[in-house]
Amino acid sequence: MSSAKIKTAVFPVAGRGTRFLPATKASPKEMLPVVDKPLIQYAAEEALRAGADKLVFITGSSKRAIEDHFDTDHELEEALKAQGKEDLLKLLRDIVPSYASCIYIRQPSPLGLGHAVLCARPVVGNEPFFIHLADDLIDAEVPCFKQMADVYAEHGGSVLGVEPVAPSETDKYGIVATEEKRGRLAKVRQIVEKPRPQNAPSNLAVVGRYLLSPRIFDKLEHTGRGAGGEIQLTDAIADLLIDETVFAYEFEGKRYDCGSKLGYLQATVEFGLKHENLGVPFAKYLAGLTDRLPGK
Ligand code: G1P
Repeated sequence: MSSAKIKTAVFPVAGRGTRFLPATKASPKEMLPVVDKPLIQYAAEEALRAGADKLVFITGSSKRAIEDHFDTDHELEEALKAQGKEDLLKLLRDIVPSYASCIYIRQPSPLGLGHAVLCARPVVGNEPFFIHLADDLIDAEVPCFKQMADVYAEHGGSVLGVEPVAPSETDKYGIVATEEKRGRLAKVRQIVEKPRPQNAPSNLAVVGRYLLSPRIFDKLEHTGRGAGGEIQLTDAIADLLIDETVFAYEFEGKRYDCGSKLGYLQATVEFGLKHENLGVPFAKYLAGLTDRLPGK
């Protein structure tokens, strides 16, 4: 049983998002909106709702828009105030609550996810922390990080958010092999970065949610280049497993792979359908389109 709250969330946002070019040439992929909020705001909200109050963004070139998004825009606020647009003003002020702090660290060179996480060491300190990959958007009643924090509160250790993927897709993910499952939870025995389907120990994939012990930083200091020539977080977790318990947790909720165009479109449609003002007219619009679907 661990009572410590997870206060820090790390958001590695240095990647260039080449799969969405040209949209991501001058604008970060994390700023792509799903309906009316950028992906990185969904990410921050998930961490805040799980109790984090320190948001650490590991940035790279062309990522200024992320800092601007979380920063106060005094000019815009004054203009909205003058126009009496209180609802829009509230919307802006709610982006980050005043008790939370945003910290930006520049990753000096693109050496991989593990290296990006290591850049956060000076501000995370000696406490467990979240890592969130904004490409993976998870729609859940209880935010995925909150579910993972609850697992940590009960069992300690480190916790990886996992879900089964198609066996042909294991080479896109960190894949875990586990001991026997108890409900949604199992101890991780092995973790491999992007194994080919024929070499994969299972089809249980880590999908952009980590709650890690600070020991991971010691491991990352010694992690060499792995898959794709990059310093991989997965390899450091494999090392962590030797000394500490790491759990795989099959979270409740639906994940959208917003790093792919299809996943991004799926998220847009489903979040649109759930939107409080747009849901009904959007559903009607979609229903009217069905005669244009292939096979009709
Ligand atoms: C990264 C990680 C991988 C993880 C995936 C989750 O890969 O390296 O282990 O499964 O995110 O989406 P990327 O998608 O950045 O290539």
